[in-house]
Amino acid sequence: MNQSLATPVGTTLDRFIKKKQNDFAFATGELSQLLRDIALAGKIIHREVNRAGLLNIGGAYGAENVQGEEQQKLDVIANIRFIRALKNGGEVCAIVSEEDEEILDVKNPDGRYIVAMDPLDGSSNIDVNVSIGTIFSIFRRVSPVGGPITEEDVLQKGSEQVAAGYLLYGSSTMMVYTTGRGVNGFTYDPSLGEFFLSHPSIQIPKDGKIFSINEGSYKSFEPHVKEYIEACKEKNFTARYIGSLVADFHRNLLKGGIYIYPATDKSPNGKLRLNYECNALALICEQAGGKATDGKNRILNIQPETLHQRVPFYVGSTNMVDKAGQ
Ligand code: AHG
Ligand code: MN
Ligand code: MN
Ligand code: MN
Repeated sequence: MNQSLATPVGTTLDRFIKKKQNDFAFATGELSQLLRDIALAGKIIHREVNRAGLLNIGGAYGAENVQGEEQQKLDVIANIRFIRALKNGGEVCAIVSEEDEEILDVKNPDGRYIVAMDPLDGSSNIDVNVSIGTIFSIFRRVSPVGGPITEEDVLQKGSEQVAAGYLLYGSSTMMVYTTGRGVNGFTYDPSLGEFFLSHPSIQIPKDGKIFSINEGSYKSFEPHVKEYIEACKEKNFTARYIGSLVADFHRNLLKGGIYIYPATDKSPNGKLRLNYECNALALICEQAGGKATDGKNRILNIQPETLHQRVPFYVGSTNMVDKAGQ
C-alpha cells in the first residue's frame, strides 16, 4: 500500500473498516460488519473486565473446560458475550471456541464466515489485575451456503484466514487486526465508546532483545530450546513473561522479541491451541514482517486435525524465530 495514502492516526475503527472495505476480495460488506461485531463484543468485555472486582465476576466458575482447565467466571462471560454478538451480527454460520468442546452451529445458514476464538486469553491473570486478551480468526465457509457445517469448514489451515486479530485489555484496551494487507492497531476511548487508529501499519523489528518463555519448565525443554535460552542470556537479553500470550505477543510485536511455548513434559505438543491462538497471531506476525513456526514448520501451513489441537509455538522477530527453531 502506498504509505502516502496511509490513513491519518485518529480515524475511528468504523471509518477505517469502511475505507478499507474495497481491499477485501469479497467486498460485500459482510466482513466489515463481522469486524464491527467483534469490536462491539470487545467493548462489552472491556467493561466487564474493568469492573470484575466490583461485580464479583472474578474467580473460578466452578467447571472445567475441554482443555481440563478450571474455567474462570470471565472465561464464561466473555464466551457468552462473543457468541451473542456474533449470532446477532448475522455474518457467521459457526464458531469454534476454546470454551466449547464442539463446533457451535449458530443455525444461520446464510452466514458465510467461521470464527475461531479464544474469548479470554490469560485467565490465570484475571484475579491479579494483569493484562488479558481475546484472540480471533476469521475464515470463509468452504461447504455450500445453506448446507450443514462440515469439518472442512472449521479445520482450515491458518493460511486460509481472511482476517485475524486480538483485543488486549491492558493499561488501555486495544484491537489489533489484519485482513491480509498489513496490521493496524486501534485504542479504545471508553468516554466516547470508540476505537481510534493509534498504531497504523505495525511492523515488527527483524531482530530483538526480549525473550518470553516460562522457564519453570526449563528442565523438560528440548536441547535446542535450552541452547537458545542460554544464548539469549549470554547476550544479556531481557526476559519478560507475563503469562498472557496476547500481552507478551503485543509487546514483542512493537519492540521486537520472541515468545516461545515449546514442548514440555506436561504439554508434549506445547500448550497453545492452533485453531484459536496460534493461527491468528501467526498471521498478524507475518503480516507485520515477523515469523511463526512450531519450531520447524510454518504455523500457517499446518493442517489442523482436531478442534483443540495444541502445537509448540515460536513467534516474533524473524531472526530470533530462525535461531530458536530446530
Ligand atoms: P488461556 O488463558 O486462554 O487458557 O491461555 C493461557 C495461555 C497463554 O495466555 C499464556 O501465555 C500461557 O497460557 C501461560 O501458560 P503457563 O502458565 O503454562 O506459562
Ligand atoms: Mn484457558
Ligand atoms: Mn489463550
Ligand atoms: Mn482462553
